[in-house]
Amino acid sequence: MSGSTPFFDLAAWRAEIPLLEQFIPLNNCSHSPRTVRTEAAAERYLGDWNRKGMDWDAWMGEIESCRAAFAALINASVDEVAITTSVSAATASVASSLNFDGTRNRVVASGAEFPTVGHVWKANERNGAIVDWIPVRGEEVIVDDYANHINEQTAVVSAAHGWYQNGSLQDIEAISRLSHEKGALVFVDAYQSAGVVPIDVKKMDVDILAAGALKYLLGIPGIAFMYVRQEVAEKLHPTSTGWFGRVDPFAFDEKLLDWAPSARRFDTGTPPIMNAYIARAGIDIIRQIGIEAIRDWTLQLSARLVERAHALGLQIHGPEDPQRRTPSTAIRCGDHDSHEVEVKLREQGVLVSARGPVVRLAPHFYNTLEDIDSATEQLARILRSS
Ligand SMILES: Cc1ncc(COP(=O)(O)O)c(C=O)c1O
Repeated sequence: MSGSTPFFDLAAWRAEIPLLEQFIPLNNCSHSPRTVRTEAAAERYLGDWNRKGMDWDAWMGEIESCRAAFAALINASVDEVAITTSVSAATASVASSLNFDGTRNRVVASGAEFPTVGHVWKANERNGAIVDWIPVRGEEVIVDDYANHINEQTAVVSAAHGWYQNGSLQDIEAISRLSHEKGALVFVDAYQSAGVVPIDVKKMDVDILAAGALKYLLGIPGIAFMYVRQEVAEKLHPTSTGWFGRVDPFAFDEKLLDWAPSARRFDTGTPPIMNAYIARAGIDIIRQIGIEAIRDWTLQLSARLVERAHALGLQIHGPEDPQRRTPSTAIRCGDHDSHEVEVKLREQGVLVSARGPVVRLAPHFYNTLEDIDSATEQLARILRSS
């Protein structure tokens, strides 16, 4: 840790986020704020559209730059990343490439799955899939439970890197080891960790990893990424497919179903082009600051949050140790409706994100210790009122 300041120029980066003039955004687990650079990227698309009509080559170049930026963030090669439109779509196309009518027809998933991922696996019960659910125990998922559920019939193990409810992180390396010992694939939903927790797909040894751009990656909805390990991609043939998943999308032969020789076979229709302009600008910010520096600073912010929560009598849901979580700290709202608490905090200029019985305070690189002090103070005041 660097003491009470980050390794980067906090003031300079804050000047690039206009929303900070009015709000303390602590809702990065839902949507991070617009930056000057993401706005400029959107305007680049809109301006070219107006000046040039259609600029297909520039668009495709931007899609490739965006793919490369995400690949670099997770230590993958550019061909190991598919561009898709949501984590839901990514999960559904993976499911469409698996064969659930043989003996290896089981899916191991946990209670920490974002509902969309659970729903895709459950929808595949129609195709013969059997979903084995690992329960949440003590407000987190215990890695040993995976060992008890994975067996030779498991086709895929689905794990959320960070739980959307309270940010608790799963030991993906251990889950990969347990899965591969039994010959199962590992699918990781990294939406809650991408951009704020270091991800190295090689070190984690995962087969597939999906994330969208809306949260800590500083982007917008409508674009998501999916890493597929090269050797795994070669064996999967998603029936949820489209022309961009072909060897040459511009071959224009409707009877030729040739699969791109990499994760690109999971691309489908015309990619989300404007979203890619914005997403790349966001990922470039994360890479320029450096994911390790971001993790270091957000750990300090989380530690301060825990300290203030204790001092103010706020109850934390899930593990308290910041190292075991994304920057999201979930505070119980007791008898209060969490959505009303979110609204009241917004009126006070603090943006948080309600989920069930908690509000989540999820700082990012641009937040300050004063943001944390002010937000927790106001939250405690609201929760003390009847
Ligand atoms: C962990 C996680 N996975 C998936 C999603 C939803 O993904 P999408 O809307 O891109 O399908 C979210 C949040 O919106 C999430 O927090």
